[in-house]
Amino acid sequence: MKRIAILTAGGDTPALNATIHGAVVRANKLRIEIYGLIKGFNCLFNPRVPHVHLNPLFQEIPELDPTKGGTLIGSSRDYIDPDQGPELDLISSRLKKLGIEGLIAVGGDGTLNGLQPLVERLPTVLAPKTIDNDLGLNHSSEADEWTRIPDPDGTGYRYVHTPSSAAFDLDQIVNYATPGYATAVLVAAQGVERIRTTAESHRRIAIIEVMGRHSGYIALGTAYGQPDIILVPEHMLDTDLLVERVRYLYDLQKNVVIVCGEGIVDERGEELGAESKSTDPSGNLVLSGAAEALRSKMIQRLGDRYFQLYRRSSTAKEAIFTRKVGHTQRGGRPILFDRFYAAMLGSQAVDLLVEGRNNAVAVLQYHSEKGFRVEGYDANRFRDRWGLIHARRMHPTFYDPRLMKPSRVGVDYLLPIFTAAIGHDDAEHMRQTIFDPGNLAEPYHSINTDVHKRIRYLPQDEPS
Ligand code: F6P
Repeated sequence: MKRIAILTAGGDTPALNATIHGAVVRANKLRIEIYGLIKGFNCLFNPRVPHVHLNPLFQEIPELDPTKGGTLIGSSRDYIDPDQGPELDLISSRLKKLGIEGLIAVGGDGTLNGLQPLVERLPTVLAPKTIDNDLGLNHSSEADEWTRIPDPDGTGYRYVHTPSSAAFDLDQIVNYATPGYATAVLVAAQGVERIRTTAESHRRIAIIEVMGRHSGYIALGTAYGQPDIILVPEHMLDTDLLVERVRYLYDLQKNVVIVCGEGIVDERGEELGAESKSTDPSGNLVLSGAAEALRSKMIQRLGDRYFQLYRRSSTAKEAIFTRKVGHTQRGGRPILFDRFYAAMLGSQAVDLLVEGRNNAVAVLQYHSEKGFRVEGYDANRFRDRWGLIHARRMHPTFYDPRLMKPSRVGVDYLLPIFTAAIGHDDAEHMRQTIFDPGNLAEPYHSINTDVHKRIRYLPQDEPS
């Protein structure tokens, strides 16, 4: 293999540059040229195929900094439509003209879903990324446990995960954690810690919403910030139990901090946050407002009198407030765990291409005695009987629905990821950079400005 390409697809994460860096360092060693495709799959729909040579003379370009969040080659939520045969032919002929012999897509479950039509035309592998930590399997046969039910209106299907017959074991998880997850949890847990002091000082109840779509991994990880209650999408909300617990805690400590995953569901299985439904271009449901919906429920159930009784607040509305951690979870410098394993997975993706393992995924495996290692995994094993890839849900045993906190198994899951997740340099970096007087004088210098100067295009013979 002489030349390969890499692209980053879907929402950004802090560890994308680290993955690209790992791939480039490995490609340098193997004397393979590596081109970065600009703005994910969007690049392939453009006849000019904007790209950057990431390792001229087998040296990585200086803009490629594994400690910087985001992606220097840009990303988009564009995906390839398997039904668009002619478009796919155009894409593979463009890549051929560019001399590309293999492609690494850095992405999540949505990206992997869209890769099938490409792997039939060009050796393609996936390096995982997602703050949601939902690309993977709780055990190797989990994909076979999905079944589908036709929609009553005959327009499509509803996919249902049937109860598993596999004995759960942390060592059997396929892709234990995805790069980006650890940094997102750090930001979310810090958010919880910071909100706590306001809740404590002003006798308030805080509801903090974290990302993760339909998977509760980020919410689970916020346990490090010591919220009183964590609500995850994998367990239906028990409003009575929640109110009882909130009252108990508020009576005791005059403040309560609740974390909710954005995809939490009520007693009927309906998403609390999907009040204003919309979908992104890859068909994912865009969730908004789980925390707000929960706040309305709490205001109604607790009522003003409860807060007036001990003169803690004049109204329930005033006492109960919400905050979304939002996109700060996805941004900024990746911490050591993410940087290190992202680089290993990027490197593994290059090896998978070189070994001829088309349609494989680089995965991070865990062994309770030996720790983490990277491997290649056949992408087809992630697919259900109908070829679909489903976002991994947090294993139900990770959560104790009575205590509304991580269970013992959940704690055991978190420990290997987070115990040494922050490097000394992460702390030192903060000390040295945030109040650097130069920040006040200098305008922000965007990576995009420098990378733009390196963008090259495919010579044109097709109409644009
Ligand atoms: O999948 C990553 C993620 O950050 C989700 O946790 C969240 O629901 C979604 O993307 C937000 O997407 P956007 O940045 O397009 O609003």
